Amino acid sequence: MTDGNGTVALAFSGGLDTTVCVSLLKEEYGYDEVIGVTVDVGQPDYEFEEAEETAEALGVEQYVVDAREEFADLCLTAVKANADYQGYPLGTALARPVIAKAILSVAEEEGCDGIAHGCTGKGNDQLRFEAIWRDSDLEVIAPVRELGLTREWENEYAREKGLPVEGGDGGRYSIDTNLWSRSIEGSELEDPSTIPADDIYKWTDNPSDKPAELVEVTFEDGEPVELDGDDLESVALIEQLNEQAGSHGIGRTDMMEDRMLGLKVRENYEHPAATVLLTAHEALEGLVLTKEERSFKAQIDQQWSQKAYEGLIDAPFVSALEAFIDDTNERVTGTVTVKLEGGHCRPVSRESDYAVYSESAASFDEETITGGITQQDATGVAKYHGFQSRLANDILEDAKKGTATPDGGSEADHDSEE
Ligand code: ARG
Repeated sequence: MTDGNGTVALAFSGGLDTTVCVSLLKEEYGYDEVIGVTVDVGQPDYEFEEAEETAEALGVEQYVVDAREEFADLCLTAVKANADYQGYPLGTALARPVIAKAILSVAEEEGCDGIAHGCTGKGNDQLRFEAIWRDSDLEVIAPVRELGLTREWENEYAREKGLPVEGGDGGRYSIDTNLWSRSIEGSELEDPSTIPADDIYKWTDNPSDKPAELVEVTFEDGEPVELDGDDLESVALIEQLNEQAGSHGIGRTDMMEDRMLGLKVRENYEHPAATVLLTAHEALEGLVLTKEERSFKAQIDQQWSQKAYEGLIDAPFVSALEAFIDDTNERVTGTVTVKLEGGHCRPVSRESDYAVYSESAASFDEETITGGITQQDATGVAKYHGFQSRLANDILEDAKKGTATPDGGSEADHDSEE
């Protein structure tokens, strides 16, 4: 704790946690001034209005940083890595380092002494923020965690102090929204056996009788650049696809998520654009990457996703993974048509100049394969295929019968060897 006379920058959303933190940073931590930093990663407008109103009511100077483009670009990098964690396309996780860096810049520019967040000691976000902030000389403060606060206590405290609290989406759930995903936690959803009410969803309509629709996604070096032939910047592309795919009810995930600390949590997400882009990207990789590249890349992608979940995308390990991802994705250029229908999407067509595909080679209608290879050439391969397994099974069978000899063969087939 400081002895006063300092300024602290607070990650500020205007929600209950951060509102209570403003007051506690002065009362409990002795700071003279709190500045609130709100980072725009594509939250809905009303969240900014709410944050602004709350800041004003609290007498906190609020800084708003627009990081949408930087965040959208990171989301498209995640597409190249086919990134998901246990089925969650990582919206909150990807946004945190972007937010943390933006707040740190403001704190440093404004000559702050401390930097604070309103995360609890149970979640992932505390770790993601602090992984970046602890690289600075600022005092890192986590009032909710350090003082062991509960939501109930915070509500009571806010009432006593007359703090302006409302809570997003009516305050029933804990919501985190950005361009890439909307997460809904808390209240009755904490019970994994509760079926979510329809009104938790804001981005996705109920998959209804809406007729199916096709969308063409064009990729360049693994990143989506066009929708139905229209060139779009990353933010606009994601926003447009969220609308379009969301109207078909695409991209809902209801899952048990293993947090970094090991706690399981029931999560609900909406992420229409992410689902379509990840589906399309994987389909294009299927066309242009070799068998070995695809299977090895799946391991690389899994490691990238794990680090992204941990908020450690700046690790040298991640750059090394990205070297493989970028290299292979230089060929992930082409167009995939995705069918949007009844809450699902699937690729229905793909084309690329880099396709590792020969129609004549795979066709049932043609006799020879490029290079003069004929069907009969596969006979030798077919003879060998499974040879070792057949041999191993024979040996096991003989051993069971008790006829195995020390060199592995059975007495009966000894003569015919070699
Ligand atoms: N569990 C997710 C993550 O750690 C998202 C958490 C979002 N927070 C919320 N209050 N809904 O990345």
